[in-house]
Amino acid sequence: MPATLIDGSALALQIRGGVAERAAALTARGRTPGLAVILVGDDPASHVYVRNKVKACEAAGIRSVLERYPAELTEAALLERVAALNADATIHGILVQLPLPRHIDAKKVIEAIDASKDVDGYSVLSAGELMAGLPGFRPCTPYGCMKLIESTGVALRGKHAVVIGRSNTVGKPMGLLLLQADATVTICHSATADLAVHTRQADVVVAAVGRRNTLTADMVKPGAIVIDVGMNRVPDGEPNAGKLCGDVDFDGVREVAGWITPVPGGVGPMTIAMLLVNTVESAERSA
Ligand code: GUN
Repeated sequence: MPATLIDGSALALQIRGGVAERAAALTARGRTPGLAVILVGDDPASHVYVRNKVKACEAAGIRSVLERYPAELTEAALLERVAALNADATIHGILVQLPLPRHIDAKKVIEAIDASKDVDGYSVLSAGELMAGLPGFRPCTPYGCMKLIESTGVALRGKHAVVIGRSNTVGKPMGLLLLQADATVTICHSATADLAVHTRQADVVVAAVGRRNTLTADMVKPGAIVIDVGMNRVPDGEPNAGKLCGDVDFDGVREVAGWITPVPGGVGPMTIAMLLVNTVESAERSA
């Protein structure tokens, strides 16, 4: 029997509905949640991401303030804007869209965001809070992956979870969140000697490497939960060239797995939903 599809679009809508209720309650008390989104330069993908974030805010009753700057903006000017937004009591979340132009030190900018407004969860302090099991903002993509796994109803306690990828924004925080949920966690990466040896033992696989067909049917334990974070394009010259695809060979793996997320319609919509959750949470904390 093919795997059950985990519908990220539907779950994201449900979560966004919950956010809208919380935002309305705050607005009724004169505390409308506010998210500032800073976009520097004209990376086309960033423009699409930012537009989707702003639209999602509007739909949920979160006030969004989009600040767009030319690629020539100086680092000092950007840091000044972040400082002003840190001091603005109507702004509860600050998101600086990445990548930034090369002349700006992204790390420095992210660390300048007040931890209480770091709704992306990218700062060293937020990472440390996650590491220590303290309350703080969880990076939106792995946080969304946890919600997708929870939606299957399978308890993670004692399960073996394998994360493929060790990025600071997805792989590492994903491993920590799974550990916090009492899973036994293995993090695999480009230097892992034999990836399949690990994934074949996994009750849960989260693939987050950015390379299509990283996980194929022969690498998956029957019944496993498979979460696909990848966002790739099928290269020219192949069937379905240009189509969006994940890191998982979806057609093959769905015949073996118990649950699987599609691309698109899996992790992507959840990332935005969790950004809204973090923003409304921040506004509630400050109310
Ligand atoms: N660039 C691509 N995805 C993201 C994201 O989730 N947050 C930020 N700040 N930049 C990104």
